[in-house]
Amino acid sequence: MTNKNFKPVRKAVFPVAGLGTRFLPATKEMPKEMLPINDRPLIQHVVEEAKAAGIEEFIFVTGRHKNMLEEHFDFQPELEQTLEARGKYDMIEKVRASELPAGKLFCTRQPKPLGLGHAVWCAAKLIGDEPFAIILPDDLVNHEEGCLTQMINTYNEHGGNLVAVKDVPRDQTSKYGILDIEDDKDGVVSIKGLVEKPDPADAPSTLSIIGRYILQPEIFTHLAAFEKGAGNEIQLTDAMAKLLGKQPFHGLRFEGDHFDCGSRLGFIAANLAYSLKDPEIGADVKTLMDSYK
Ligand code: UTP
Repeated sequence: MTNKNFKPVRKAVFPVAGLGTRFLPATKEMPKEMLPINDRPLIQHVVEEAKAAGIEEFIFVTGRHKNMLEEHFDFQPELEQTLEARGKYDMIEKVRASELPAGKLFCTRQPKPLGLGHAVWCAAKLIGDEPFAIILPDDLVNHEEGCLTQMINTYNEHGGNLVAVKDVPRDQTSKYGILDIEDDKDGVVSIKGLVEKPDPADAPSTLSIIGRYILQPEIFTHLAAFEKGAGNEIQLTDAMAKLLGKQPFHGLRFEGDHFDCGSRLGFIAANLAYSLKDPEIGADVKTLMDSYK
């Protein structure tokens, strides 16, 4: 049953100020979030997911060398004129689909990459006093119904805070934020603890958070303490842990294939999966893959 009293999720934060060191030297000048998965950059995949979920305001937390990310969503008159002169109408449609309407894209700066928690804090003024989504462009979920749409549907039932979760192999818990859970019903778990990157022996479960969050604005009070955590970075997970017990906090076992595109292997896996389902080149990609067997 939907509780109409929950404030709607209208805004999404896209933290894109990281250094992308795992992709060096490719990311020396080029933002990691501009690396393409099939025919569009990572950032466009997640902006499209947010649009489909009904998000109205798109907030980029950018840093040095990241201007290309905002430019990508701009109107490009010369390009469209050239494509029109050449009769490439299908390409014009593709280019237009990458634009964001006037007054919907907001940017704030994170001067130094001090961690994901700090990046989110940089968006505090643009969020104000309402629940909001955070989407990490590194994490793609391939499913007809986008991951954020699934989450907003669940949020409309439960309110509070919600993260997207999936099981990881136990020997890999030290790479992820791991949950300590109570109830586990119909794909929704209620969370009683959060540990950032625990050793496999200490991990309270194997359920990890991926880069989709719906959080209440009280998170900013905790982020403003600027406490450093794992990796000497200001971690979002540490601030979220402080909301536990004070506000409802759930995890959604989302549907779809998840790709960690922040790692080179996950990036290649996503490129294969997304190009295989591309109507133009999918069959040829399959033939190509078979030829490597
Ligand atoms: P990651 O830790 O995966 O990105 O952060 P990174 O630090 O850029 O990559 P590596 O580990 O060096 O290869 C996930 C997301 O959070 C953003 C990143 O841009 C990425 O989209 N981020 C991270 C920030 O905006 N600021 C930060 O201080 C850290």
